[in-house]
Amino acid sequence: MNEPILRVRDLSKTYMQGKIPVHALSDVSFDVQKGEFLSIVGPSGSGKSTFLSMIGLLDKPTSGSVFIDGVEVTKATDSEAPVIRRKKIGFVFQHFNLIPTLSALENVDIAMRFARVPKSRRRERAIDLLTQMGLRDRMNHKPSELSGGEQQRVAIARAMANNPAIILADEPTGEVDTKTRDMIVELLRGLSEKGQTILVVTHDIAVSAKTRRIITMRDGMIESDRMIS
Ligand SMILES: Nc1ncnc2c1ncn2[C@@H]1O[C@H](COP(=O)(O)OP(=O)(O)O)[C@@H](O)[C@H]1O
Ligand SMILES: [Mg+2]
Repeated sequence: MNEPILRVRDLSKTYMQGKIPVHALSDVSFDVQKGEFLSIVGPSGSGKSTFLSMIGLLDKPTSGSVFIDGVEVTKATDSEAPVIRRKKIGFVFQHFNLIPTLSALENVDIAMRFARVPKSRRRERAIDLLTQMGLRDRMNHKPSELSGGEQQRVAIARAMANNPAIILADEPTGEVDTKTRDMIVELLRGLSEKGQTILVVTHDIAVSAKTRRIITMRDGMIESDRMIS
């Protein structure tokens, strides 16, 4: 087996709610190989968002470790974390989170600018990614001039911009109709078939059923982890 692109070991997160400790994650361990397309499902409060914020370097675990591409990101200092996040992780959110004043092209471009990619290379890559997302003719539109599905495709292009080790998507189809949902899932699946690792948190069985592996969480633990044929 190759070195996993994501390695999670004994990951725990305890929040204090007043004086009461809440074990949002308890000793979670698993590996993800490059190019996997997997979903994390489970009831509300089971720890899914907590888990994403640990692997996305948005928050620190109470104990345990996360390795991305062989690097122990849980050891990153506060100043290193944003740099690792920009280079290694692509985020896709439920609410798209595009910058409203920028065009689709500029939204993708700015992700690369933050990662200090030279200007000459940014434009070409942004156009290429948006074209792959079927947005060749919509590139100069602002988010408010795009449908929900188009906005999410811009967000996926942005997430891909810096060739991330992994894309983390939190309820990426939570705001779109079922036809658009199916198109977005197909796009993500196509990217995974080209080698992009993608982890999706979803409530929607129609989404998880299209991934290749489903991890079910309950009470901060992995209840089941199964491959789909
Ligand atoms: N910042 C926080 N402070 C205190 N408790 C939290 C915080 N974030 C999440 N929790 C608690 O941790 C548990 C897991 O939450 P979460 O990861 O958001 O679950 P999910 O995304 O599966 O709905 C819940 O009991 C929630 O109330
Ligand atoms: Mg959540």
